[in-house]
Amino acid sequence: MRSIASRIAMMSGEGALSVFARAKELEAQGQSIIHLELGEPDFHPSGSVVDAVSRALDEGKDRYCAVVGVAELRQEIAAYLRRTRNIDVSADNVLVAPGCKAALFFAMMALLEPGDEVLYPDPGFPGYPSIARGLGAVPVSFELSARNHFQPDIADVAAKITPRTRMLLTNSPGNPTGTVYSSAVQRDLAALAVEKDLWVLSDEIYARIIYGGEYVSMLSYPGMRERALIVDGFSKSFAMTGWRLGYTVAPSDVVPALAMMAINTYTCVAEFTQYAAIEALRDREGATPRMVAEFARRKQQFVRDLNRIPGFRCEAPAGAFYAWVDICGTGTSAEEICRILLEDAGVAAIPGAAFGPAGKDFVRFSFASSVENLREATARILKVSSVWQGSLIEK
Ligand SMILES: Cc1ncc(COP(=O)(O)O)c(C=O)c1O
Repeated sequence: MRSIASRIAMMSGEGALSVFARAKELEAQGQSIIHLELGEPDFHPSGSVVDAVSRALDEGKDRYCAVVGVAELRQEIAAYLRRTRNIDVSADNVLVAPGCKAALFFAMMALLEPGDEVLYPDPGFPGYPSIARGLGAVPVSFELSARNHFQPDIADVAAKITPRTRMLLTNSPGNPTGTVYSSAVQRDLAALAVEKDLWVLSDEIYARIIYGGEYVSMLSYPGMRERALIVDGFSKSFAMTGWRLGYTVAPSDVVPALAMMAINTYTCVAEFTQYAAIEALRDREGATPRMVAEFARRKQQFVRDLNRIPGFRCEAPAGAFYAWVDICGTGTSAEEICRILLEDAGVAAIPGAAFGPAGKDFVRFSFASSVENLREATARILKVSSVWQGSLIEK
């Protein structure tokens, strides 16, 4: 009998993509929409990166290439991590992947057995529990609560560990909250992983997008060399979402397992994009710091304006480019708020439950959009806020 494998029903989609699809529908009907739903920088890679991709094509770099990534890019990634994250990584530990999401998938596929438990943050990137479930593993969430400024609570994480726990997933700066884990939290998480002999999968895709301070990788902590994998990529820090480029830094005994995943799926990442990625990492034009400085300006304005909306409360994020707004004060559900924002105000945002049950009273807005768009968005939201202000008065 023909049927779809049951693992597909175990996986879930992404709230951002469904809001985006509805927003596009409304746009096609002529409605003006401000897109604050997707986690996509409104920048493009700098001229030198675009030149490098055409140069690579001119030079015929459009062949099958090394499964783990071209040697020059692996070396450049190691140098980049040394320079920007102060971690000593060998090029032999770096595997280039077609995006961060694929890197996460393959790392989990390589390390988890069916029934293994994976600790992950709630709210968090929806791919974490979905991939784990799809692989027959069991996602177990730890809450990032407003009470704790969205930092993992070590006692809570420790209490969730059982003999079946195999992996701890971390994400700093985090999507959707923008939290940068404190060094005390990272140190304690690392110690817990050592004590309980867990793999650590550290999603560091927003590492370059922080608003002050030095970024500290999970790999910096004692005992992490042999058990931590970093996943990072070019989508956010280098505004290269559509290029589908990411990488994993893995302990030496994990590298062959990830190479086996590559051989059996994508074979290799497009050669010409890998050569252009070297230019992105060198960043001679300072494109990344400029983009982050611009995000910092927008963050300040947007968070201030959001806090002026009746019923909205938003802590300024320490990293990434999301405003994570507590909408409890509106007396209306996050789903209804997002429906009103999209259908009546033409502002696309995501109900927090798309990031896990702990997000149910929140809405995520991306501020990777122009200052004018953000200003117009908050003006529109203020206008429609009379709808929930009415319901507040009735209560
Ligand atoms: C925390 C996190 N990890 C991974 C990804 C996926 O990144 P990529 O575009 O490299 O697949 C995203 C994208 O939104 C993200 O927010």
